[in-house]
Amino acid sequence: MIESTLKQATVLVVGGSSGIGLAVAELARREGARVVVASRRAPERMAALPSPLDSIEAHAFDILAPADHVRLFEALRAFDHLVVAVRSDVRSGAFLEIPVDEAKSAFETKFWGLYRLIQTAHPYLRASGSITLTSGIAGEKIYAGASTMALINSATETLCQTLAVELAPVRVNCVSPGFVAPKPARLEEEANRFPLKRLAAVEEVASAYLWLMANPYTTGTVSVVDGGARLT
Ligand SMILES: NC(=O)c1ccc[n+]([C@@H]2O[C@H](COP(=O)([O-])OP(=O)(O)OC[C@H]3O[C@@H](n4cnc5c(N)ncnc54)[C@H](OP(=O)(O)O)[C@@H]3O)[C@@H](O)[C@H]2O)c1
Repeated sequence: MIESTLKQATVLVVGGSSGIGLAVAELARREGARVVVASRRAPERMAALPSPLDSIEAHAFDILAPADHVRLFEALRAFDHLVVAVRSDVRSGAFLEIPVDEAKSAFETKFWGLYRLIQTAHPYLRASGSITLTSGIAGEKIYAGASTMALINSATETLCQTLAVELAPVRVNCVSPGFVAPKPARLEEEANRFPLKRLAAVEEVASAYLWLMANPYTTGTVSVVDGGARLT
């Protein structure tokens, strides 16, 4: 039942030109979905993919540009599943040393961009469809020096739950990844303390989005895929 759901579906992956989003796009394409990715450099990056994944459609889209939101959905029209895996550049640093404007600017891309995206996308999203957001380990576990990302991820998880109530029957879920390989040696080392003693392969995180998209009775949940990192 779950596979046939995705075979009929159009899946839009915003932030799908690299990393987790690209892995989600590839898995959804393999499941037979029509897949569209949108990001600033999506057309160039998709053009460089090996066949048969070149059948993924790509739109140049900047989540910070309101006109791009309107243009994207006027081009796409009705679709079934929205996945958002956009990354903000966030500098690590002690709370007392991060200027307010820098923290606000990090919110612009990953949080306020998402906010605008969902408002623009909703009229085009089929009622049987879903939205899957991305938070992250800093929303599950407190790390000194990661206050901005902790706040963005927590806000994203709270938005997920509110929207699951307000937008039903559209389902709204969130994936919270742990540390995806490759990472600097310091984090490779730290992973030895995780219950699963390693970083995640990107496909291991991506498969959670596929499950949330396809499962018709799951909404308002955060799927943590972190190898147990939050427990250490
Ligand atoms: N990787 C990890 O270890 C990890 C851990 C916890 C949480 N996460 C979260 O998972 C998500 C994906 O992370 P990732 O590591 O896969 O990131 P990534 O490889 O850097 O990919 C980020 C994506 O965001 C897009 N993007 C960035 N700015 C954009 C903008 N202004 N407009 C539209 N698209 C934009 C990029 O495409 P263009 O450059 O083409 O625009 C790219 O497709 C992020 O929210 C991140 O915080 C990741």
